[in-house]
Amino acid sequence: MTTAPTASDTFEIRDLTPEDKPWVQRVLNQYWASTVQVSKGRKIQADELPGIVAVRAGDPVGLLTYQITDEGCEIVTHNSLAGHGGVGSCLLAGVRTKAREAGCERLWLITTNDNTPALRFYQRREFHIVDFYKDAVNEARKIKSEIPDMGIDGIKLEHELELEYKL
Ligand SMILES: CC(C)(COP(=O)(O)OP(=O)(O)OC[C@H]1O[C@@H](n2cnc3c(N)ncnc32)[C@H](O)[C@@H]1OP(=O)(O)O)[C@@H](O)C(=O)NCCC(=O)NCCS
Repeated sequence: MTTAPTASDTFEIRDLTPEDKPWVQRVLNQYWASTVQVSKGRKIQADELPGIVAVRAGDPVGLLTYQITDEGCEIVTHNSLAGHGGVGSCLLAGVRTKAREAGCERLWLITTNDNTPALRFYQRREFHIVDFYKDAVNEARKIKSEIPDMGIDGIKLEHELELEYKL
């Protein structure tokens, strides 16, 4: 038997505002151990980026930060704070629209070799693995010492993968 969605099941997305910054910093510190992200040897101050927030019943339940450069639109962080009820997909749809509006030809992101849930999530949503950066996490750790040695499911955290969605 399925239950009809209630108001508390539904959520909306909106752009981040400057007032969100303390919350953004808390989320980044909680989920990424820092407001700094390091990938492909670059240090990115994620709390200074534009972003999208998912809100349910007045409470923020998801955050995606991104940056638009010559390389296209990069998803820098992407977190559901509310389990697996569609928040991640909704945020992804939101950033896809932003990227298209900005005239980008690609939406892309870096994830790590241990993150099999993310590899599953994005590949099921038409992203393709387009690059592999061997030992990149070992290098990133020199810049961001908070990166743990072990990742998801006890997989050693060592390499980066680049995924791309052609717009
Ligand atoms: C990636 C992420 C943002 C997706 O958000 P989400 O809200 O879970 O996404 P949705 O609810 O839209 O879809 C979840 C998918 O995971 C599946 N899922 C269900 N339970 C799950 C679980 N326990 N673990 C992982 N995936 C699960 C769902 O079935 C769904 O898959 P499908 O629709 O492809 O069949 C979220 O998992 C997350 O916060 N991950 C940790 C941070 C991260 O790795 N971010 C990506 C790199 S920046």
